[in-house]
Amino acid sequence: MEQAILGRTGRSVSRIGLGAWQLGADWGDVSTDDALAVLGAAADAGVTFIDTADVYGDGRSEKVIGSFLPTRPGLTVATKMGRRVALDPALYTVDNFRAWTDRSRTNLGVDTLDLVQLHCPPTPVYSSDAVYDALDTLVAEKRIAAYGVSVETVNEALTAIARPGTATVQIIFNALRLKPLDHVLPAAQAAGVGIIARVPLASGLLSGRYDEHTTFSPDDHRNYNRHGEAFDVGETFSGVPFEVGLAAVRRLAPLVPPGVAMAQFALRWILDHPAVSVVIPGARNPAQAQGNAAAADLPPLGEEVHAAVTEVYDDLIAPLIHDRW
Ligand SMILES: NC(=O)c1ccc[n+]([C@@H]2O[C@H](COP(=O)([O-])OP(=O)(O)OC[C@H]3O[C@@H](n4cnc5c(N)ncnc54)[C@H](OP(=O)(O)O)[C@@H]3O)[C@@H](O)[C@H]2O)c1
Repeated sequence: MEQAILGRTGRSVSRIGLGAWQLGADWGDVSTDDALAVLGAAADAGVTFIDTADVYGDGRSEKVIGSFLPTRPGLTVATKMGRRVALDPALYTVDNFRAWTDRSRTNLGVDTLDLVQLHCPPTPVYSSDAVYDALDTLVAEKRIAAYGVSVETVNEALTAIARPGTATVQIIFNALRLKPLDHVLPAAQAAGVGIIARVPLASGLLSGRYDEHTTFSPDDHRNYNRHGEAFDVGETFSGVPFEVGLAAVRRLAPLVPPGVAMAQFALRWILDHPAVSVVIPGARNPAQAQGNAAAADLPPLGEEVHAAVTEVYDDLIAPLIHDRW
């Protein structure tokens, strides 16, 4: 498994991590046994970085990870805070940060959280000196070892990267979301800020398994948030209309090398960008976690493939979403 230094955390992590949103809720039911099996399969395959949030299953994802951590020393866990309350900049205070991180410390069973990310806060929060001062206070108090941000837009990412204490930026980056290539990845690399690439499979679209007849359960955000009804539509299929995504995936399919699963191809495409520290695919079962980890063993895809991916993006996707995030 390829390793990378995770930005200003200074930690070495596997370049394929595990996204643990699925272990909470919002994607339909996952039993605790199944969640533990996914964590076990990922760790067995060499994954050492897990991304979660206090809001996933309202703490369930963190608690399952917390019960798993003692069995596998050496894992790095990033959590997020700020979305269990209204999205109001006035709530981003040091006292609230203490309360929110105390809850995550309890859920995860650790004294010091490895990395805490502001969870897509309102845009003005990224420019608030008081917010960064409060985060620095949490580091000084050893509640957290480092902090980062999870952003919706490239401008939010660039604002956070300019702050000296920002260790990481988490952003949507995948073969259907190329905008971070323009400025965010170069700026992060120049500043030594880690990039955590989320929604790397465009919520599963880039697995190549879906078609016009695919349905998702009522409690799966790919059903109930398809038009942004519950949260930013960019988090569901990367904000690409489902049918357009299917058309793009059909054009990408011939680029997948023989013997390689399309999901692995999509992850390898992200890993080919050295500014990305870690990619965090979500997995619903141990086989997906294993397959995703194996993407790190594939050779780089080559310039022609990268050019072809860009062409598909320019033709089908960019006109619909490039200006949005
Ligand atoms: N605001 C934020 O900070 C934010 C927002 C979104 C996500 N995230 C983080 O990013 C992580 C990843 O994003 P995501 O989970 O939304 O999307 P994703 O990783 O792009 O897609 C996950 C889905 O892809 C499919 N999949 C995964 N591995 C596969 C494989 N090997 N073969 C075939 N299909 C596979 C599964 O779909 P099926 O369910 O159809 O099997 C799975 O549910 C999350 O878990 C979370 O940690 C953060």
